[in-house]
Amino acid sequence: MEHKIGLIGCGTVGQGLLQILQDKKDYLRDAFGFEAKVVAIADKLKGTLIVPEGIDIPAVLELLGAGKGLADYPKAVPEQAKSLDPLDMIERTDADIIAEMTYTDIKTGEPATGYIKKALRLGKSVVTSNKGPAALHYREIQDLARQNGLQFRIEGTVMSGTPVFHLAECGLAGNAVREVKGILNGTTNFILTKMETEGMDYGPALALAQKLGYAEADPTADVEGFDALAKVVILSNVLLGGALKTSDVPCKGISAITKADVEAAKAQGFRYKLIGHAKREHGAVTASVSPQKLPLSDPLAGVMGAQNALSLETDLMGKITIQGAGAGKLETGFAILSDILAVHRR
Ligand code: HSE
Repeated sequence: MEHKIGLIGCGTVGQGLLQILQDKKDYLRDAFGFEAKVVAIADKLKGTLIVPEGIDIPAVLELLGAGKGLADYPKAVPEQAKSLDPLDMIERTDADIIAEMTYTDIKTGEPATGYIKKALRLGKSVVTSNKGPAALHYREIQDLARQNGLQFRIEGTVMSGTPVFHLAECGLAGNAVREVKGILNGTTNFILTKMETEGMDYGPALALAQKLGYAEADPTADVEGFDALAKVVILSNVLLGGALKTSDVPCKGISAITKADVEAAKAQGFRYKLIGHAKREHGAVTASVSPQKLPLSDPLAGVMGAQNALSLETDLMGKITIQGAGAGKLETGFAILSDILAVHRR
C-alpha cells in the first residue's frame, strides 16, 4: 500500500527520515508491502515544497546537505508552493500521514500542537518526535485522533527510536505498567559519565556534550531536568494512565552536582544518575525528576555516556529494562518510521 507523507520540520530528524525512506525503499516494500511517497515538506527555515506526484528525495537531501533551501529544488514547483506556512501546507497537501518534527516548546507546545490538530481535523494521521504536544496535550489530541478514526503516535518523543511505546503497546500488551524509572536525557548522562570516568569538571563536560550535538543549543532544558520532565510526564500519561501536568512534577537537574559529589558517591559504591520516576499507587499517578545515587547493582547504574534506559515495573512480567539511544538523526528518524509503519499496519 502506498502512503502519502507530509513532513513538517526538515532538520536533523526530517533528513534522517528521508534518508531511511530512500535507503530502505525496496526492503520496506518487499517486507511490509509499504511504499512511501513524500508529497510535501514544510520547514520554517528551509521553505516549503508540495509535489503531489512525489518529491525526489535524493535531490532534497543533496540540496539541504549543501546548506541550500527548498526554493532551489531543481524540478518545477509553483512559486506559491515554495513559501507556504505549515498550516497552509496541511490544507493543500493530499498527504494521509503528517510527520511532525519541529522543535519542542515545552511551555506552550506550539506551534506544533496547532499543526497536529489541524492535520487530524483534515483526516490525516500524525506521528511526531515533538515533546511539547505529547507532554502538554496528549489526551486531547488522542481523543481528536480517535474521533476522526485516525492515529496520533509519539514513539520519537522518549528515547528516540528505542521502542518504549511499541514495547508497552505490543510486546507487553496485557500487562499493567505500575511504575517507570529511567535515564531519559542523554546530555546529563554523558556529563555525569565524563565527570566520573575521566575526572572532568561539569563545565568542560557540558561543553563537550554541546560540541558532540547531544545538548540543546541552550542546554538549560537538559541540565535543569526540563527535558527529562517532559518525557516523564509523557510516560506517566501514556503508560500509567495519569493526567499529570508539567507543574505537578517536582524537577531538579544536575547543575549543582560537583566532581567531588560524583567521586564521593563512587567511593561509597554508588553512581549519580538523573532519574525520571513515575508511579501509579492507590489510583493516583505521581512523578519526579531528580539526581539520585544508585547502587551499582541497579541496571540503570550501568548505563553510561549519552545512552538512555527505562525500567518498567509490570504486573505479569516484573521488571523489564530497555536501553538504547535517546537522540540522533537516524535513531529519531527511525522512531518516525516505526510510527508510520504502525499506521500502515492498522
Ligand atoms: N537533548 C536531549 C538529550 C535530546 O540530551 O537527551 C533528546 O531529547
